[in-house]
Amino acid sequence: MRKLYVIGIGAGDPDQVTVQAIKAMRQVNVFFMIGKGAEKQELVDVRSAILTEHLRHPYRVVEILDPPRDRTVPGAGADTEYRGVVADWHEQRSELLERAFADTDGVGGILVWGDPSLYDSTLRMIERVLERERMHFDYEVIPGITSVQALAAAHRMVLHEIGEPVHITTGRRLREEGVASGQSTLVMLDGDCSFTQVPGDDIYIWWGAYLGMPDETIVEGPLRVVEHRIARRRAALREAKGWIMDVYLLRRNG
Ligand SMILES: C[S@@+](CC[C@H](N)C(=O)[O-])C[C@H]1O[C@@H](n2cnc3c(N)ncnc32)[C@H](O)[C@@H]1O
Repeated sequence: MRKLYVIGIGAGDPDQVTVQAIKAMRQVNVFFMIGKGAEKQELVDVRSAILTEHLRHPYRVVEILDPPRDRTVPGAGADTEYRGVVADWHEQRSELLERAFADTDGVGGILVWGDPSLYDSTLRMIERVLERERMHFDYEVIPGITSVQALAAAHRMVLHEIGEPVHITTGRRLREEGVASGQSTLVMLDGDCSFTQVPGDDIYIWWGAYLGMPDETIVEGPLRVVEHRIARRRAALREAKGWIMDVYLLRRNG
């Protein structure tokens, strides 16, 4: 039976690639790169550099261009419709993956940014391909260092207070739900500096952008003191590079 490896490659630092990931990559004959076409060249370069550095055997790279996604449906307050749009998009992506895998031979591999378990649709796509029962293959997940871990390491911090929970969410949800007391809130996928919309004078923020990459930037402090500095810094970095990825933790004091 054919095999497909889903390999977490870490959040940007090529040194975060694990020995297990390298061993899996060395089994792969064809890598599927799923992206937007206009994907930031730097992110493509990180993946290519990882392959060049660790592999000596012949392999192919097949690019799968993302189908366009309906961005007219608002995320906030329209959950059912929003989920429908995302489900359609996953369906189309999984069709493309199925076709690409069927058109090739040997062991397949998909390199996933960070870890496949966190805000990544690769595993959902593969489940859809298998549910259609047109193809039969085995797949294995190799875990990677997430941006969450990269943030914690960069700030040399523990994500939660002793015995307390961590809530991982998106910028959209943060705007709707805020920060609960007694809980640390980790926010990903926030293009809007949603932390500026969270009420309260007792919140601390640990923020990080381009973690593990040459432009890594971190800021921490009381939210009301540093929020505008972070927003300005974020805008300037985004302007200079043309793209940004950032993640942050919010926690109410004591
Ligand atoms: C589509 S999600 C993928 C998350 C990934 N699977 C992971 O394990 O980190 C993309 C989001 O992850 C966060 N992210 C990923 N890499 C990052 C990095 N190097 N620095 C800062 N944030 C990052 C950002 O919040 C970004 O919006």
